[in-house]
Amino acid sequence: MTGMITLDSGFANTGSCKSAITFMDGERGILRYRGYPIEALAEHSSFREVAYLLINGELPNRKQITRFSVLLNDHSLVHEDMRSFFGSFPRASHPMGILSSMVNALKSFYPYLEGEEELNTTVARLISKVRTLAAMSYKIFRGHTVVYPRPDLSYCENFLNMMFDSPVRPYEIDPDVVQALSVFLILHADHEQNCSTSAVRLVGSGRVNLYAAISAGIAALWGPLHGGANQAVIEMLTNIVEKKIPLKDVLARAKDRNDPFRLMGFGHRVYKTYDPRTRIMKKMCDRLLTKLNIHDPLLEVAQALEEIAVKDSYFVDHNLYPNIDFYSGIVLRAIGIPTNMFTVMFAIGRLPGWIAQWKESMDDPEWRLNRPRQIYTGPTQREYVPLDER
Ligand code: SDX
Repeated sequence: MTGMITLDSGFANTGSCKSAITFMDGERGILRYRGYPIEALAEHSSFREVAYLLINGELPNRKQITRFSVLLNDHSLVHEDMRSFFGSFPRASHPMGILSSMVNALKSFYPYLEGEEELNTTVARLISKVRTLAAMSYKIFRGHTVVYPRPDLSYCENFLNMMFDSPVRPYEIDPDVVQALSVFLILHADHEQNCSTSAVRLVGSGRVNLYAAISAGIAALWGPLHGGANQAVIEMLTNIVEKKIPLKDVLARAKDRNDPFRLMGFGHRVYKTYDPRTRIMKKMCDRLLTKLNIHDPLLEVAQALEEIAVKDSYFVDHNLYPNIDFYSGIVLRAIGIPTNMFTVMFAIGRLPGWIAQWKESMDDPEWRLNRPRQIYTGPTQREYVPLDER
């Protein structure tokens, strides 16, 4: 076929690329970050460590992780002039739209400098400030006092404290909740060339600054077929519970090809078996809700829905299994994150992966401006017709 571009030309025209960051096997349900199985990282690592691994290619030693933590802490505050931006958004604004705008605005406050050291600073600044911006947005939109990051808290502890601490009711950091959040973020940290990562690579190929490329990734993640599915799953489960919809009717509707959303949280472009992240997320659901003594009817419905769907011939024939979004919202609800911030949590998790993928493409000597071609299906050449003759 003419115009077929080999992989050697990188991502430039085909939408596929070479990458050494994340390995996925959709048939066997395998996911590895830089060769480390997701199960081992979820069990033994921290989100900070996984972020370092994805971006630098190796697990950090003690000196490296300490240096990275200091950078994250040093760059955890947001320029005070940015606080006024929040007030300009209508109250009904979705946190993903706010986050995408605020991340783009970071470029105006933090000039993007070249050079390795500056890149490390820019990376730490982004990973740290995105978390602060998310918590600030939550507080400001509720009219509550903004809580600042603290040097004595870890990445996840700081986020929870910035979200839920208040002058009248100090937030008590629960190690089980911190661990659940860290695992949640690890499970979302990278996933090969998904929609939002491809957006980051595509926008980045124009050699725009990292903030703008990440802002594009946040916008791409927002959609309900991609990162927005975690919010859509909870809305679907809530609807089932509130309207007492029989699960067999839910499955029947999901098979209707005209239904744009089908069964939210099910199916995947790559996994044609169980998403390995879902197994971990499901176990964490059980563990966290038991520890917190929470009874969430949505979890029961989700488990019952999965049980009948995975035996249903349509789902079996189409290789449809629960993906990461099917149970992730249950964990976030237990932590106390509002539903409209679920995809923001996905973005905080995915940020190191986006940065790693962007960096890999920038460092690729064969990397060129991404400029896909098309198969033209429009009219052949035509003569211009003056207005009065049409
Ligand atoms: C994420 O790419 C990534 O890695 C993404 C992600 C990441 O970490 O970055 O994993 C995160 O985005 C997970 C997906 C979240 N989205 C949802 O849960 C939304 C619901 N899922 C579907 O919209 C769908 O499964 C997609 C969009 C995820 C995948 O769509 P595809 O690739 O078009 O699905 P497919 O080609 O594998 O579909 C095969 C068949 C089709 O039926 P036919 O047209 O052949 O008859 O299965 C059907 C689809 O219509 N199908 C579904 C279905 N998903 C696919 N039928 C019912 N319910 C569903 N959820």
